[in-house]
Amino acid sequence: MNYVLRGIGVLATVGSISLLAFSLPSGGEARGDGGGDDLMPRLTHTAWQQECASCHLAYSPALLPRASWRRVMGGLDQHFGENASLDPATQADILRFLEANAADSGRSRMGDKVMQRMEKTAPLRITETTWFVRKHDQVPRATWSRKSVGSAANCAACHRQAEKGVFDEDTVRIPK
Ligand code: HEC
Ligand code: HEC
Repeated sequence: MNYVLRGIGVLATVGSISLLAFSLPSGGEARGDGGGDDLMPRLTHTAWQQECASCHLAYSPALLPRASWRRVMGGLDQHFGENASLDPATQADILRFLEANAADSGRSRMGDKVMQRMEKTAPLRITETTWFVRKHDQVPRATWSRKSVGSAANCAACHRQAEKGVFDEDTVRIPK
């Protein structure tokens, strides 16, 4: 199916859910980041941590806008070649959390930075965002496909404290 059309379809169907999410209290704390460019907001949410951290890092909601999270959560049955489907209640619960803390929620400095450079409307990947590409412009292309890295999505391969939300220069080491 046409990518663009599909994106619009997803937006249209979840539009009502997102309005609802707005009026509900969320799991995260407001502007909970330490203030640095390199710190992800510290957030906790049980279902997100259980369901979205089994195959990869639980990517911070601040790294993608709401429209992206709707697309990601609307296509979990075909999630980058994996079936990551969830029961509808858990899926809705996680989407509410992601939307409430998304890059365009105004709730973290990290999100503000990501949005300053957002060129696409609803990228499916953090690694496709202009913010990500610019932050990594010194990383040679060939590095991403090294066996020890696998792909740019494998943040923890280089960011040794990524699981704690720490991404500063001192904790980066590109594996051989
Ligand atoms: C069954 C395994 C699995 C589960 C569970 C899973 N994912 Fe993924 N996810 C993947 C794979 C595989 C990729 C592609 C990684 C790559 O390109 O190296 C991916 C990539 C992503 C990306 C894009 C990363 C990038 O910038 O390139 C996002 C965003 C994402 N997942 C969000 C989620 C969310 C949110 C959840 C929980 C609802 C979740 N994932 C659960 C397997 C999974
Ligand atoms: C191949 C190794 C590698 C991978 C994989 C990688 N990064 Fe990076 N990242 C780097 C390097 C190198 C820098 C530049 C560090 C510096 O500023 O000197 C960097 C910088 C950053 C910064 C800015 C840090 C600062 O001090 O301003 C953030 C935030 C970041 N990466 C997040 C991520 C996220 C999120 C992912 C996964 C989606 C990821 N990175 C994947 C190597 C990597």
